[in-house]
Amino acid sequence: MDLKLLSEVETPCYIVDENLLIKNLEILDYVQNNSGAEILLAQKGFSMFYFYPLIAKYLKGSCASSLFEARLGFEYMKGRECHIFSPAYKESEFNEILKYADHIVFNSLSDYEKFFPLILKSGKDIEVGLRINPEYSEIETEIYNPCSKNSRLGIKIKDLKEIPSGVSGLHFHTMCEQNSDVLKRTLKVVEQKFSKFFKNLKWINFGGGHHITREDYDREELIKIIKDFKKRYPLKVYLEPGEAVALNTGYLVAQVLSVVKNSCDIAIIDASAACHMPDVLEMPYTPKVLNSSDKGKFEYILAGPTCLAGDVVGRYRFDKKLDAGDKIIFCDMAHYTMVKNNTFNGFNLPDIDVIDKNGKLITVKKFGYEDFKNRLS
Ligand SMILES: Cc1ncc(COP(=O)(O)O)c(C=O)c1O
Repeated sequence: MDLKLLSEVETPCYIVDENLLIKNLEILDYVQNNSGAEILLAQKGFSMFYFYPLIAKYLKGSCASSLFEARLGFEYMKGRECHIFSPAYKESEFNEILKYADHIVFNSLSDYEKFFPLILKSGKDIEVGLRINPEYSEIETEIYNPCSKNSRLGIKIKDLKEIPSGVSGLHFHTMCEQNSDVLKRTLKVVEQKFSKFFKNLKWINFGGGHHITREDYDREELIKIIKDFKKRYPLKVYLEPGEAVALNTGYLVAQVLSVVKNSCDIAIIDASAACHMPDVLEMPYTPKVLNSSDKGKFEYILAGPTCLAGDVVGRYRFDKKLDAGDKIIFCDMAHYTMVKNNTFNGFNLPDIDVIDKNGKLITVKKFGYEDFKNRLS
């Protein structure tokens, strides 16, 4: 990819590289073909619907966390499966969800009891599932741990006496940016606790958090785990990664607005951690920046333009001094960025650009004052 292109765009701007996305989709398709599992795009991580027709060529469909995501998946991944899971559904939305979703997963038996009659009444051929909480997870960051104490996510084995009528699948999601060894250990617990129900089911969903497209991810082990599982139980297996679909496919390009001094140099840029890369603060993590390295002679804190004192991306070293107008290119910015961004302080949202498979730069979306105003009253 031509890095010069990245530095020519108006800032701030997310840029997604179609060839890198295709590379990830080919890896995911390899896993599908060799394991027999079916893979869905978790839209919560990456909802760039410009690419949904491309993604639909490889993946079995999408999964949604809400009515709007379900509608987006339905509209832009035509003919593909549309799954939905919500911790609690809203009565006023459920009939519309029935228009889009072909798999509906309930988080509790009470939600199942409340909404299953509506599914029956719709006369639609909808697969119904229950989310389970295996009470096993290896996630250390508490806010990302669905099995934390007092988690609201999923039904524990002590509360599931039998599979209720009309339920054809179980769903668990207990992983985050993890490798296949974690799935292996998790699956062991899931089987110990829940396999007594498998004979009454058609499918099981292993959720997201599988970092399948990461360089050191053990894909052959994942394939083996799924194939062995399918030998033990004749169930269709779904995976629903978000991050793995868009991992390392995009950038956020910003420019330096001003350099100020405290005990070190601070470059204020026109992209914000708080608005445009909130996981930097929430996870927290420090994204890679092109052309920065530990050996660089000049150290800067890169910080956003909002009023939030903590709107800081991190400390970086560069070979040359930074000046106003210099471009800063953050890596791996396609997932959990556009889906989470906001206009705090009235800052505009970054453009969304694509480098298409022929290397051409296309601006897919620009935002402006109306987008900011329309979320207010
Ligand atoms: C139910 C469910 N499925 C899928 C995902 C996608 O996870 P990831 O983007 O880490 O693969 C999440 C993320 O929180 C989730 O909660």
